[in-house]
Amino acid sequence: MGEGQHHAEYSNYQGDLSKEETLQLLVDSYEAVSNDTRNWVANLSNASSLVWHAYHSLKVPVNWSGFYVINPTKPEEELILGPFQGKVACQIIKFGKGVCGTAVSSQKTQLVANVNEFPGHIACDGETQSEIVIPIIKDGKVYGVLDIDCLALEGFDEVDVEYLEKLVTKISESNDF
Ligand code: SME
Repeated sequence: MGEGQHHAEYSNYQGDLSKEETLQLLVDSYEAVSNDTRNWVANLSNASSLVWHAYHSLKVPVNWSGFYVINPTKPEEELILGPFQGKVACQIIKFGKGVCGTAVSSQKTQLVANVNEFPGHIACDGETQSEIVIPIIKDGKVYGVLDIDCLALEGFDEVDVEYLEKLVTKISESNDF
């Protein structure tokens, strides 16, 4: 972090940046603010905020951005709610269930243009229309997922996949889970 720079300034994305520039700034900002610690609670909390503000600067109506992590009391079975921005959400998601559980079981990003067409989608908020979930993987093991919900249909596309996968790679490298 630069001398004299305040942490909160990383949440101030300029409105005139392209989507690619904004999402690259998101990745770079995460890298800068995560330098101080390898604690996942601290880093995923700031990552949730950076994601929220990046999409709002792009006028994408994101209504939830955050993380589910492997539940330490049931590590073979389920995710538990982690740091996030937005409304109160479901606490437990079983592997293989919903978009998040599917991302864990398949170890693949889930890009969902219309959540109403995703079999088994878990509606924490009935207003959500589209969603993207990226698994956090290190050495072949899943540690959690980044989940972003949107009030618009087709809120995310392949550009989001590209940059959010970069972000999640940085998250997997910069934390001790
Ligand atoms: N929709 C998710 C559940 C989590 S909330 O969106 C925050 C799912 O189907 O796994």
